[in-house]
Amino acid sequence: MKKNQIIDILKSGQVGAEITVKGWVRTRRGSKNVSFIALNDGSTINNLQVVADAENFSEEILKHINTGAAIAATGKLVESAGSGQSVELQAEKIEIIGKADPDKYPIQPKRHTLEFLRDVAHLRPRTATYSAIFRIRHKLIFAIHNFFNERGFYNIHTPIITSSDAEGAGEMFRVTTLPMNDLPKTEEGGIDYSEDFFGKSTNLTVSGQLEGELFAMAMSRIYTFGPTFRAENSNTSRHLAEFWMIEPEVAFFDLNDNMDLAEEFLQYLIRYALDNCMDDLQFLSKRLQDEEKNKPADQRSMELIEKLKFVADNEFVRLTYTEAIDILKNSKQNKKGKFQYPIEGFGTDLQSEHERYLVEKKFQKPVILTDYPKEIKAFYMRMNDDNQTVAAMDVLFPQIGEIIGGSQREERLEVLESRMAEMNIPADEMQWYLDTRRFGGCQHAGFGLGFERLVQFVTGMGNIRDVIPFPRTPKNCEF
Ligand code: 4AD
Ligand code: MG
Repeated sequence: MKKNQIIDILKSGQVGAEITVKGWVRTRRGSKNVSFIALNDGSTINNLQVVADAENFSEEILKHINTGAAIAATGKLVESAGSGQSVELQAEKIEIIGKADPDKYPIQPKRHTLEFLRDVAHLRPRTATYSAIFRIRHKLIFAIHNFFNERGFYNIHTPIITSSDAEGAGEMFRVTTLPMNDLPKTEEGGIDYSEDFFGKSTNLTVSGQLEGELFAMAMSRIYTFGPTFRAENSNTSRHLAEFWMIEPEVAFFDLNDNMDLAEEFLQYLIRYALDNCMDDLQFLSKRLQDEEKNKPADQRSMELIEKLKFVADNEFVRLTYTEAIDILKNSKQNKKGKFQYPIEGFGTDLQSEHERYLVEKKFQKPVILTDYPKEIKAFYMRMNDDNQTVAAMDVLFPQIGEIIGGSQREERLEVLESRMAEMNIPADEMQWYLDTRRFGGCQHAGFGLGFERLVQFVTGMGNIRDVIPFPRTPKNCEF
């Protein structure tokens, strides 16, 4: 393949080379005599400056060189007179490939709000901010596969349509081909799913974990990386109805091994972004700093790149849920009634305000909380000797709150069966899962990383809707 993308042209900087470059016009400025076109093809945050002397081009060409238009420019690379770039293209020929009427093209050469750009999500990758985010998103995907591949993990594709509810939380999207206006009924009057496509009730998966466990019990180290779906009515800056999750599952691992893996994994990914996405990170950092200028100094957050380095280089704090509850209960915040959800004591489910208090105020570092009360966690987590808590772990990050949730799994058949009975998980439909405990069962552990929450952290974006190409949230499924 020819290397004629802007990223390659700027890198090689071959003065004197005769080239053709294609891309979209970001801006055009200049005078009657000369136009300076900032051309971008999405390969990098940096534009190639194309210089067009008016005498060489007809008015018919020049008038179509507007923001958003696709053009091809041919000419010689020359040393750039302006600062900020090493070379520019002295255009000899320009072809208008696709016009963009400046009166109608929604993206103007000015700062748009992120809310506005969400409404034109089909065009927002044309902006510097979004193309930077999606380049970083790509690099992180690549880094995730690298990380696991280097450590002997196998990637397993777990099903997207499933008949089980992995988390036992029941917040699922139904998959059916039954006619909604004429549902077949059973004799008892319920819906007769035996007539449905799969002959039973099916949903979109909320997690690949249970199927992942089956493969871990055969191939030792596996990970899934796929779309997951949650029909929870959470309209927050950290929830999506469709998001991507990475779920490693490892045979013979205990909770400590699991925490070590999670910490190493997150630090590797952040370090990878620092090593491979610096241009984009610098752009996003500057953008954030501009945004924060108006805030009072004590409310500004740490500069993006500094923050990433800090998390990549410093050990996470580890403590138990019970210790965290003590800290929260005795905090000034709680005593002054400043939490929206006051901490009563053991058993309280932690809200993101509590998670962020621990991470941002108390420790100023990522925190791994372990050993949660069994009542607020899933049925598959391993029961601790106290019979009160389970071997769960949540990794909490600044700005994000929970970024990873995981646990050591209950490998003891009888304990698992009694937990399932307590929590009304139908064991008859889960015999395939219980078989791993019957035949060659062993200690094992795993976790799930919410991919968009990771991308949010690395890019510093405040809203999760801005780090996935086409966000799906309650009452919103455009494109
Ligand atoms: O804590 P969760 O629900 O854990 C599981 O699904 C386990 N089966 C994982 C495992 O042990 N294999 O979800 C894991 C992570 C959360 O920590 C969060 O980062 C992300 O997935 N997440 C969401 N991200 C965006 N939108 C949502 N609605 C999310 N729900 C969970
Ligand atoms: Mg969780």
